[in-house]
Amino acid sequence: PVVKEIFGLANLEEKISTAYGLCKVVVVPGDSETSPLTKKELGRAGAKALLSVMSGNDVVAVTGGTTLAEVAEHLTPPNVSLKQSWFVPARGGLGESLEIQANTIASGMAKRVGAGYRLLHVPDLLGKEAYESLVHDPNIHDIVEMIRGARIVIHGIGDAMEMARRRKLEDSVVEELQNQGALAESYGYYFDNNGVVVHKMLTLGLRLEDIMRTDHVVGIAGGKSKAKAIHAVLKFGQEDVLVTDEAAAEEIVREL
Ligand code: BG6
Repeated sequence: PVVKEIFGLANLEEKISTAYGLCKVVVVPGDSETSPLTKKELGRAGAKALLSVMSGNDVVAVTGGTTLAEVAEHLTPPNVSLKQSWFVPARGGLGESLEIQANTIASGMAKRVGAGYRLLHVPDLLGKEAYESLVHDPNIHDIVEMIRGARIVIHGIGDAMEMARRRKLEDSVVEELQNQGALAESYGYYFDNNGVVVHKMLTLGLRLEDIMRTDHVVGIAGGKSKAKAIHAVLKFGQEDVLVTDEAAAEEIVREL
């Protein structure tokens, strides 16, 4: 806490949690976009925040991304047994490189804390026909139900345009997103400056209505360039815990 005061980070935490009505905000020093060390700290703080909301009998839905991969790296076995808990990917796994896919991260997290995991081996982005046939497949149905009933969601937040590129969306869709003022992407949804969902991807897994029902939504994202995206997701209003870094936090507070 003394260190936090010196850096003025507690002040940033306080301002952000008040402005957006969050239960908890954690700000780590530095800029995770330019400093790998800060990114690690972000992961460490994210891991701590996740464990603090787990009760020992949870289903945790996790997204992919480099930030969540860092969270997984920093999880350590907690004092309470998590044998009865499950980690699942928030959405279909395939579509990003293996290391940062939600499936990889969910299984990695589970192994680190001694919990169970179930995976969803379908592409992230589905056509209507594929979706209809997969959602009725009995094996897939079970895991999809489990994901949609998750008690905790832990997710990354990305800049809309960067995520559109990373997901290789068609040019016409990218243009549409731009026209709609999309700033953020998270769990397959695109948000504008007011936190309004302007675009969604048809996907098996978590939907907005499921996110609204979960007990804990933990968002983890840092870096100066993500400030607008983080603001957009916070405006959406479902976040309970935010773990971010100083660079993003300062930028967010400047705009308040
Ligand atoms: C994706 C998540 O995998 O990672 C998104 O599904 C998030 O919710 C994105 O926007 C962020 O990625 P990174 O690498 O910037 O942490």
